[in-house]
Amino acid sequence: MNGHCATTNTASGASRATHLAKIIGESTAKIEVYRQEQGLPPLSLGPDAPLDVKYPPHIEQHRRSLIDASLELGDLATGPVELRLVPGWAVMTMFAVTQFIFDFDIPHHVPLGTEADRDGGSISYESLAAAVGVGPSVLRQVLRAGMPYHMFHEPRPGHVAHTATTKVMARQPLIKDWTGLSNDVLLPGAGGLTEALQKAPAADDPAQTGFMFARGGGEAGMYMYLEKHPEQARRFAGVMGAFQQDEAYAPRHLIGSWPEDLQQGGKRLVDLGGSTGTVAFALAEAFPGLEIVVQDLPGALKAARTREGKKVAFMPHDFFEEQPVKGADVYLFRWVLHNWPDAHVRRILQALIPSLKPGAKVIIFDEIMPPAGSMSLSVERNQRNIDFGMLILFNSKIREVEEWKQVISQADSRFKVADVRYPADSRLSLIEIVWLP
Ligand SMILES: C[S@@+](CC[C@H](N)C(=O)[O-])C[C@H]1O[C@@H](n2cnc3c(N)ncnc32)[C@H](O)[C@@H]1O
Repeated sequence: MNGHCATTNTASGASRATHLAKIIGESTAKIEVYRQEQGLPPLSLGPDAPLDVKYPPHIEQHRRSLIDASLELGDLATGPVELRLVPGWAVMTMFAVTQFIFDFDIPHHVPLGTEADRDGGSISYESLAAAVGVGPSVLRQVLRAGMPYHMFHEPRPGHVAHTATTKVMARQPLIKDWTGLSNDVLLPGAGGLTEALQKAPAADDPAQTGFMFARGGGEAGMYMYLEKHPEQARRFAGVMGAFQQDEAYAPRHLIGSWPEDLQQGGKRLVDLGGSTGTVAFALAEAFPGLEIVVQDLPGALKAARTREGKKVAFMPHDFFEEQPVKGADVYLFRWVLHNWPDAHVRRILQALIPSLKPGAKVIIFDEIMPPAGSMSLSVERNQRNIDFGMLILFNSKIREVEEWKQVISQADSRFKVADVRYPADSRLSLIEIVWLP
């Protein structure tokens, strides 16, 4: 049974709910003491809350336990009927309200004042409505729908003020891209899943995904679609960039697990599907001896507005075509292959073969799915969200380690997996492959 579904008593005889409540109490106390010691205010989403507090690892562990235990306890208290009926509403409301807030540029029309600053920190619905060009009554209706989700609040009747989360929306434009992508791509894609699986039950063709049936307009796959839709491509590249800002996806994890024999001078690296080159530049800085070529589709390179660097060059290349850079020491796929079904991964790896010298390495730095039910509730939800997103957009999946090994050896038995490394705190892991003809 999945670890999160335990509904009976724990080993000590306490009910699951009591056990979770105890974790919540203990973790909250640890976090509060730490915040007090650091001179930080208590946990809050109010307008004056610090926006991005980073905790040391032992407190971060308590924070994760608190999130997991409160998610599960909330679900237990909600009960089976409400659990199945309510979340759909919440998702619909949150996405639609967030989109509205961005499209009418509300975060920049509400003063970014402080709680103490009573008038400077709020605006009346009438003034806000006039400023953004929508009726005051419907404005109030939509914003109030977002308030239970911590988006804006009413410090006094008829006035709107920021919360911490809407301040984040004002400051980080990438959340706007993420919201647009969710509304225009993910939600329609999810809606198309059943039709896709009825028409193409094997789910192995990137041209027949939920998204392709809902919005794809007959393109051969998501990336081909993006090539024809530059605005969506820009947003997509932006959101990928936002993921990179999360510590768990930071380039340092790849640098920290980079094979020693590829660190010395004179090594040539090809970064396939390398996008903006963020990772290539980080590698070039860490290992100044590397000569790097970043390859991606022409549209993606244009959307990424690439900049050449001393040791980093950019080259348009479709990785289904034969690799033009012959005899490099290492070919890197960082966070690329999880976007493709098995047959396509095999073709991508096979397209390297004519250019590989004996002993050349192929590095896959990508998500490896832990066994089902082995993660904490919040991590499992997040991983399954990503995996599900892969299905509706690409007909691909986040592979477990044995699935990775299988698809690599199916591509060609001369690809030998030499090592699999799981850097601490990284969402991506390293699969080191050696070409042994
Ligand atoms: C999830 S992104 C990863 C980007 C980058 N490697 C990173 O780690 O941030 C996948 C990349 O694969 C690129 N890509 C998709 N299809 C491709 C193809 N046929 N040939 C080359 N690149 C492709 C996309 O344009 C995108 O930049």
